[in-house]
Amino acid sequence: MSQQKICLIRGDGVGKEVIPAAAKVLSALGLGIQWVEAEAGYELFQRTGDAIPDATLAAIADVGVALFGATSSPAGGETGYRSPILVMRRTFDLYTNLRPVRSLPGAFSRQEIDLLVVRENTEGLYSGRERRDGDTAIAERLISVQGSERIARAAYQQAVRRVACADGRANRPGRVSIVHKANVLKLTDGLFRQCCLRIAEDFPGIETSELLVDAAAMRLVRDPQNFDVIVTTNLFGDILSDEASALIGGLGVAPSANIGPSVAVFEPVHGSAPDIAGQGIANPIGAILSSAMLLEHIGHEPDAQRVRQAVYAILADGVLPTDLGGSASTRQVTAAILQNL
Ligand code: NAI
Ligand code: MG
Repeated sequence: MSQQKICLIRGDGVGKEVIPAAAKVLSALGLGIQWVEAEAGYELFQRTGDAIPDATLAAIADVGVALFGATSSPAGGETGYRSPILVMRRTFDLYTNLRPVRSLPGAFSRQEIDLLVVRENTEGLYSGRERRDGDTAIAERLISVQGSERIARAAYQQAVRRVACADGRANRPGRVSIVHKANVLKLTDGLFRQCCLRIAEDFPGIETSELLVDAAAMRLVRDPQNFDVIVTTNLFGDILSDEASALIGGLGVAPSANIGPSVAVFEPVHGSAPDIAGQGIANPIGAILSSAMLLEHIGHEPDAQRVRQAVYAILADGVLPTDLGGSASTRQVTAAILQNL
C-alpha cells in the first residue's frame, strides 16, 4: 500500500495550535500518514517578503491534499501581501468551497441542523478586480457561465450524495436552495440563477428552491432545520456560512474544504484569532472536523466517521473549550478526542 501524504500548513496565530492538534488525531488512526510540512502566512511574509513561497505551492501540487490552519491578513492592504488561502484557491482552481453545518451535542448548539453551504470559491466579489477612480472605489463582481455551472453541478452532486448517506438524519435531504440577489444584481446573479436552474434539470430527483440572500440570512436563523444544500456565490457563501456556524457553537467548530480538479485544501473556517492566539485555549474541533472531511475525500470514510464520533463523544461528556462555555484547553480537548477514537 502506498503511503498517504498530507501537506501540513500551520499558518499564523491559532493555526499553529489547531493544526498540530488535528495532525495528532489523524496520525493516531494508524493510516501511516506521511506529513509534508510547508510554510505560509503573514509572519513568513514579514520575515521573507513572501506569504506563500513557490516551494509551498509545489508541495501542495505534489501531494494533492493539504491541511491548512489560517493566516493573518492586515486589513489595510500591505504592499505585496497576498492572502495564502486566496492564492491557493486561484493557483489550484479550488472552485468548490464546502462548509457543512451539523448540530453538535450540547446546549451550545441548536439541534436537528444538517446543512451544507456550497460556496463558489473563485469568482464573484473575490475576483480581485478592485480599482480606485478619484473619490470612488470600484469592485468588479465576476460571474461566468462556466464558473456558475460547475459550482451548481458540485452542489447537486453533494445533494445526491447526502441522500445516499442520510441514515439517522433528522431533516429531509435531497434539496438544493439557490441563494442569490437576482432582483437587484440582474446581470450577475441573473446569470448565476439561470445556470443553477439549468443544472437542476439534470437532477430530477433533487428538489430545487430559490431564495434571495437577505431572506436566506433571516431564514437561517429562524428555521435552519429546513435547509439541506445551499448553493451560492462567493461573498454570500462566506457570510452565510459564518452565520450558520453560530447556530452550532460558532467559528471554533466549523470545518471546510476547498476542492479543485487536482488539489484539495481542508481548513477550519475561522481565521488566525489574534485575540486568543498563544494562550493554548483555541478550539481545535473546526480543524479536526476539517481533517475528517479530508479523510472522506481520500476514501477513508470509516476513519472520518471515527473522528466525528470521537468529537461528538467528548462534547456529550461536557469536555468544552472556552468558546463553547467550558474551560478545557486545546491540549485537553485534543487528548479527550484521542482517547475516544
Ligand atoms: P477569526 O476567525 O480569527 O476570529 C473571530 C472570533 O472567533 C474571535 O473572537 C476569535 O477568538 C474566535 N475564534 C476563531 N477561531 C477560534 C478557535 N479555533 N477557538 C476559539 N475561538 C476562535 O476572525 P477575525 O478576527 O475576523 O480575523 C483574524 C485574522 O484572521 C485576520 O487577519 C483575518 O484576515 C484572518 N482570517 C484568515 C482566514 C484564513 O486564513 N482562511 C479566514 C478568516 C480570517
Ligand atoms: Mg469567512
